[in-house]
Amino acid sequence: MANKNQTLGEFIIENQASFKYTSGELSRLINSIRLAAKVVNHEVNKAGLVDIIGAAGDTNIQGEDQQKLDVYANEVFKSALVNREIVCGIASEEEEDFITVHGKHHAHDNKYIVLIDPLDGSSNIDVNVSVGTIFSIYRRVTPVGTLVTIDDFLQKGSEQVAAGYVVYGTSTMIVYTTGYGVNGFTLNPAIGTFYLSHPNIQFPQSGKIYSINEGNYVHFPQGVKDYLKYCQEEKEDRPYTSRYIGSLVSDFHRNMIKGGIYIYPTSTIGPKGKLRLLYECNP
Ligand code: AHG
Ligand code: MN
Ligand code: MN
Repeated sequence: MANKNQTLGEFIIENQASFKYTSGELSRLINSIRLAAKVVNHEVNKAGLVDIIGAAGDTNIQGEDQQKLDVYANEVFKSALVNREIVCGIASEEEEDFITVHGKHHAHDNKYIVLIDPLDGSSNIDVNVSVGTIFSIYRRVTPVGTLVTIDDFLQKGSEQVAAGYVVYGTSTMIVYTTGYGVNGFTLNPAIGTFYLSHPNIQFPQSGKIYSINEGNYVHFPQGVKDYLKYCQEEKEDRPYTSRYIGSLVSDFHRNMIKGGIYIYPTSTIGPKGKLRLLYECNP
């Protein structure tokens, strides 16, 4: 029976033993994500105030350069992971190339790498819509003690040892799995502690929500168009309901709790579509 008074810190300690590699390294890693999430949460919450409390131009009242929140979040997650020398490598959406963690001590003796989007949906910040952090953790495939290579980062999804997200929403939550169920922790902002609020989350057996950017409709593959028509038909329990925020974490989180599907098909328009098209022409 899940204990809803349990904090994330307590949960990590209690569940460390059930993880197949019990060195404690993964626990320390989740702990550092927990810390960085709290720092980013604090900054995201005052996003609307930045222009008010900051001085004119690009400098705030402390004389620091005001950074875009996705750059800020990148720095926070990077330092939480690099300074504590918990991982041997990081790949971030905000970095051109993967980061090799050299470390003063024995960082490349560490076994894990992290892939992260520090602030997903950042264009939604300006309009007070939820954003998130997405992370994925793998064990390196190259030998411990050497520098990481691209092979450590390009592994199959099924090789992940842990993955999750933080949603900075009406409340801030961390949802993650190490392969033994998915658990969600909600931040009590008054004391800065995450509590187990959503133990063992499971998708409902059936759902009525579909989430897709229908603005790209004409460019979708025929199968996706057919599926959308199916969702919209008046039959049995249909039509389904369309919900799309444009912040993957929020769309996914809602659909996992309420039951639904998130779809981002290949299309040939928009900045992302253009990238795909370029890639398809020049793989
Ligand atoms: P970014 O990391 O650049 O902020 O991207 C946000 C993503 C994702 O959260 C969302 O699902 C998708 O972009 C929305 O894309 P469209 O605007 O094309 O629908
Ligand atoms: Mn993103
Ligand atoms: Mn991003």
